Amino acid sequence: MIIRRQQDVTVAAISAMEQTSNPRLREIMVSLVKHLHGFVRDARLTEAEFREAAAILAELGRQSTDTHNEVVLMAGSLGVSSLVCLLNNGDQGNTETAQSLLGPFWRLNSPVTENGGSIVRSETPGAALFVTGHVVDRAGHPVAGAEVDVWHASPVGLYENQDPEQAEMNLRGKFATDADGRFAFRSVMMVGYPIPTDGVVGRLLKVQHRHPYRPSHLHALIFKPGFKVLISQVYDPADPHIASDVQFGVTKALIGDFVKEGDSYRLEFTFVVEPGESRRPKAPITAKVSTASTRPA
Ligand SMILES: [Fe+2]
Repeated sequence: MIIRRQQDVTVAAISAMEQTSNPRLREIMVSLVKHLHGFVRDARLTEAEFREAAAILAELGRQSTDTHNEVVLMAGSLGVSSLVCLLNNGDQGNTETAQSLLGPFWRLNSPVTENGGSIVRSETPGAALFVTGHVVDRAGHPVAGAEVDVWHASPVGLYENQDPEQAEMNLRGKFATDADGRFAFRSVMMVGYPIPTDGVVGRLLKVQHRHPYRPSHLHALIFKPGFKVLISQVYDPADPHIASDVQFGVTKALIGDFVKEGDSYRLEFTFVVEPGESRRPKAPITAKVSTASTRPA
């Protein structure tokens, strides 16, 4: 068609998108063009602003490497990652879910550890933390023989791969649930930490007067054939940033009960697994990264 006025561009672009042969890709592209054009109209985007937006997208790409993904960090900082997670779990967003974001630091092959054992693999000063987890299905029945990976930041807010002071695989471990669906381990109490602020995301946070912190959390990845892989995080409600996570990852279902007992902490948490495909995600990192290129998140 020959375009005569601004409304015509949208009609022409949508009809071009409709030529996509794959039906799902067609649906996505038509919706994307509708919303992108709607956004340009709604914001009354100027030519200078459009050029700036294109430059920012290019910069997000340039700032992404094998050990850091600024695009994913931006998606998290805009709440998009959390929305995708919540829409695709818990009966398509209708009920609570223990699913959460994977984050950039899950590693394959974390050390198999006996139930009740410690995941502290080099001297890590901090308060002791005793964790007991229960893995159950939707009906509340225990799930035995599930493989549970756990990992978390140190008491100074660094994952082992970011910190030359920590031994390989420190504060990481792999457990198998027992007949009661239970696993347990000993560690040290973690703290919250800031996401990297030396890129595009940092500039955005600054102009929005937002802090860069993620509240203190424990990561878990639970694998058992017949269930959707559960990627979860359990948050500490005592963290000052519990209600303002920069990545919008905290949901009510993921708030744990970290009980202080003297100088140590105890956490008991029940993970509910949902039926689905048991496919592990791709590990975002494979090894320690050099300190020079470390960009935590
Ligand atoms: Fe994390």
